[in-house]
Amino acid sequence: HLRPTPSSQMEEVSLLRGSNCRAKGAATGFKVAILGASGGIGQPLALLMKMNPLVSLLHLYDVVNTPGVTADISHMNTGAVVRGFLGQPQLENALTGMDLVIIPAGVPRKPGMTRDDLFNINAGIVRTLCQGVAKCCPKAIVNVISNPVNSTVPIAAEVFKKAGTYDPKLLLGVTTLDVVRANTFVAEVLGLDPRDVSVPVIGGHAGVTILPLLSQVNPPCSFNSEEISYLTTRIQNGGTEVVEAKAGAGSATLSMAYAAAKFADACLRGLRGDSGIVECSYVASQVTELPFFASKVRLGRCGIEEILSLGPLNEFERAGLEKTKKELAESIQKGVAFISK
Ligand code: NAD
Ligand code: LMR
Repeated sequence: HLRPTPSSQMEEVSLLRGSNCRAKGAATGFKVAILGASGGIGQPLALLMKMNPLVSLLHLYDVVNTPGVTADISHMNTGAVVRGFLGQPQLENALTGMDLVIIPAGVPRKPGMTRDDLFNINAGIVRTLCQGVAKCCPKAIVNVISNPVNSTVPIAAEVFKKAGTYDPKLLLGVTTLDVVRANTFVAEVLGLDPRDVSVPVIGGHAGVTILPLLSQVNPPCSFNSEEISYLTTRIQNGGTEVVEAKAGAGSATLSMAYAAAKFADACLRGLRGDSGIVECSYVASQVTELPFFASKVRLGRCGIEEILSLGPLNEFERAGLEKTKKELAESIQKGVAFISK
């Protein structure tokens, strides 16, 4: 009569020996919640976080389907214990005690839409989830994936300010997919392995606000004007390329889950105290006159430990920066106004 039991419920099953034990190393591992865990990004992200040895406890929260996703993921013989939480009444339990909260909840684009067209639905979703974070785990690092990131990060900041819990070092907009794409497309042009290429991408996460710094590619290289134009356009339109290819079935999910898992891992390694962890992210910033901006940040035990300077920009990048700032300023203001209205 030992029926298979989802490990999310194991503590309630007295017949299973050691059911109160944590996996080896769990005492030192991190507690991570994914909000929107049943979605196109959420599911593969849950899989990747279950595979991360730094994670001891993985909470999967969504308004639909978390029992199935949790049962499925919990059968993986990796260290993290998985628990599922379904619907608003379970949000607080999902968040209590978390070290890192990753938010991919919200609707994705369809062809013909901009990310800003998602604002009306996703702004309210992010507000509700961040109110939960403020109440239940105000010291957690928060990774915001939900679009439009240029506005949802300012929304999260305003929610935390209102609750009196805001720590700008803990709030990070996830722009890693822009870097992942830039590394891939630049490597293709240069004929290199994409793992050996590093392209800083600054600004924000929509259209012209995605500003790859092709003058700062590592390994050092140069591009002709045709290559610069092709690469800049392709990197800025990477999301739209996927939205159009999926033809109404959503936007990037698999590459995004990869990017989000990579970024979350960097945040956890920073929390652990590893040195030299640098990633691009959209954060509260003073590198420009705007209150939020994506650039390289150094991660550590307290979240963001340092925001690195932009470094020298060429004339093309300086012109791009002006366009970026104009659009970003409006998106930030829209997010702030949503909470203060
Ligand atoms: P999806 O529709 O497949 O999944 C979204 C999930 O969110 C669903 O399971 C849904 O039930 C859940 N959800 C909705 N309201 C919720 C709430 N109030 N609380 C908790 N969960 C809720 O969408 P997706 O493809 O996974 O994309 C999710 C978001 O991520 C979109 O806004 C998309 O634009 C964005 N995105 C961002 C990036 C980035 O680079 N930052 C990349 C890709 C997608
Ligand atoms: C992306 O860059 O893939 C995401 O922001 C999703 C989208 O709408 O393009």
